Amino acid sequence: MFTPGLLKDRRILVTGGGTGLGRSMGQRFLELGAELVICGRREEVLRETAAALSAATGGKVETQACDIRDSGAVEAMVESIWATRPLDALVNNAAGNFIARSEELSPRAVDAVVNIVLHGSAYATLACGRRWLKEKRPASVLSIITTYAWTGSAYVVPSAMAKAGVLAMTRSLAVEWGGRGVRLNAIAPGPFPTPGAWERLVPRPELAQEFETKNPLGRVGRHGELADLASFLLSDGAGYINGEVVTIDGGEWLQGAGQFNFLGRMMTEADWDALKPKKRG
Ligand code: HXC
Ligand code: NAP
Repeated sequence: MFTPGLLKDRRILVTGGGTGLGRSMGQRFLELGAELVICGRREEVLRETAAALSAATGGKVETQACDIRDSGAVEAMVESIWATRPLDALVNNAAGNFIARSEELSPRAVDAVVNIVLHGSAYATLACGRRWLKEKRPASVLSIITTYAWTGSAYVVPSAMAKAGVLAMTRSLAVEWGGRGVRLNAIAPGPFPTPGAWERLVPRPELAQEFETKNPLGRVGRHGELADLASFLLSDGAGYINGEVVTIDGGEWLQGAGQFNFLGRMMTEADWDALKPKKRG
């Protein structure tokens, strides 16, 4: 759907790019001509992904083992990336999450999620942003959030709090930095199956069925659909989109929100017929 060189020579850092959606986005960026840097905590996972992506696309992939909860480690990573060549874009994709009853969360459990999602995204964004502003380099930040950033959600409360914070960061910096050439946007995906998310969020097969089909389209998202959206938002074609969050969930959150949406499941043909006005005379 894009011209082959859409992201030619763009240097893009994808946090958490060794697995799942980060890896799928990275692959599409490479196919569109970008140069990729992926980071995560597990060096071996990064190495395997880099080798597979380079083999599949012929593109250049650099790996950076980094725990983004550590601001010093993030600064060192970004410094070492810049030493080779500055980035043109950052994708805040790394996350931690699990389902739990909130009253049972320990302080460390709250921190485990919030420190990755909120603090890690802030450290990476600020480390890149201050360099881009100083160099007057046009650039773009894309953060992967989720729809419960604004609806909230039971049982994933630290994640909802942290994703809401990342959305606030996106909208705030879009205004503060937009006039200086740095755009910030977010994507809010619905369910896109990945081993990392499913093993932590979907404990039983019948729950998977419910989670995967409770949207008007009755299916999960395809990784390519998300990767295409991310590519567009990073491209020059999206140059006037700033401070926006684009939802890609098949209509899932709206279905949960509309007061009468449940009628589609509950009303029979006869029920609807009985409601039609009677002909007079
Ligand atoms: C309750 C839990 C828990 C659970 C961990 N903890 N898992 N508490 N229920 N299921 C608690 C631990 O007991 C500990 O607290 C604290 O959290 C830290 O645990 P560690 O295992 O030491 O943490 P760490 O090794 O840093 O791992 C972080 C993690 C882990 C977030 C817990 O799951 C992880 O590494 N995740 C990375 C990948 C990931 O989560 N991917 C899914 C993203 S999906 P105590 O007090 O006992 O010491 C996603 C989808 C969003 O975000 C939307 C879907 C539609
Ligand atoms: P995933 O495969 O588990 O991806 C999470 C990645 O983050 C992993 O590669 C992990 O690598 C990395 N990471 C975690 N903690 C880190 C840390 N402290 N420092 C550096 N990297 C860290 O899950 P996914 O499903 O692809 O999720 C990707 C993004 O999409 C997340 O932001 C998630 O919230 C969002 N999302 C997913 C869905 C979905 O349905 N899948 C829906 C909505 C939103 P290491 O463990 O090696 O560090």
